[in-house]
Amino acid sequence: MRIVLMGPPGAGKGTQAKRLVDKFGMAHLSSGDIFRAEKAGGSALGQKLAEYMDAGQLVPDQIVVEIMAKAITSCDSPAGLLLDGFPRTVAQAEALDAQLDQAGKSLDGVVVITADEDEIVERITGRRSCPDCGKVYHVKYLRPQNDNLCDKCNVQLVQRADDTEEVIRQRLAAYNRQTEPVIAYYRGRPNVQTLFVNGTQPPDNVTADLVRGLEQLKTEM
Ligand code: AP5
Repeated sequence: MRIVLMGPPGAGKGTQAKRLVDKFGMAHLSSGDIFRAEKAGGSALGQKLAEYMDAGQLVPDQIVVEIMAKAITSCDSPAGLLLDGFPRTVAQAEALDAQLDQAGKSLDGVVVITADEDEIVERITGRRSCPDCGKVYHVKYLRPQNDNLCDKCNVQLVQRADDTEEVIRQRLAAYNRQTEPVIAYYRGRPNVQTLFVNGTQPPDNVTADLVRGLEQLKTEM
């Protein structure tokens, strides 16, 4: 399966992507994770990405497409691919289509996790993650076993630079303006299934809905 995972910031894409990859075994590519790794490396490209990310704005399409095209080429496998956070504009979706077409491949489904704005703000301001393995926690909803330490790596959890309330509002505005139209773009496509899952349920229920939806999609492929 080649799947695009969409949804507003904080809807639970990263949390659920890790579970879906464990269940279905496809490769997982998160544009946000790739960009944060580049940023942490301190390269000139990383500094450029930080200008946009820390302000809650989308990185320009040309930069995104170049980075993601390389990552997809090196990652796409027979086990499938889960794209998380890409594409996020119609221009990026068109570039992805062109890349897959050229490789004789296609997208099978688009999964949208929904969530409302107040919940998103609470989730994002309470998010903590492991700087080593990337596992995501929440101070209230998905707490680590030991206070502020990763369950797997035992290192201190950190908060993302763009997880302030002010920046979240910018990210939400960018999502509504630039990413929502991507859903309409895919909905018009005959061979791409679109699945909406309610992200405002407990994490295990969201996972159950996603697994059910993807298993159904697999039978229809
Ligand atoms: P990115 O890293 O993709 O961020 P995002 O889309 O804003 O999404 P988040 O990572 O904030 O949230 P999520 O949906 O993964 O939620 P999570 O599972 O962590 O992008 C960051 C930036 O990079 C962008 O702003 C942009 O600048 C740039 N960028 C990236 N891709 C780009 C592209 N294609 N084009 C241009 N620019 C791009 O969950 C959130 C919290 O809620 C966690 O604490 C979690 O524990 C908790 N939680 C999760 N599920 C539940 C639940 N069901 N109930 C209660 N709590 C829950």
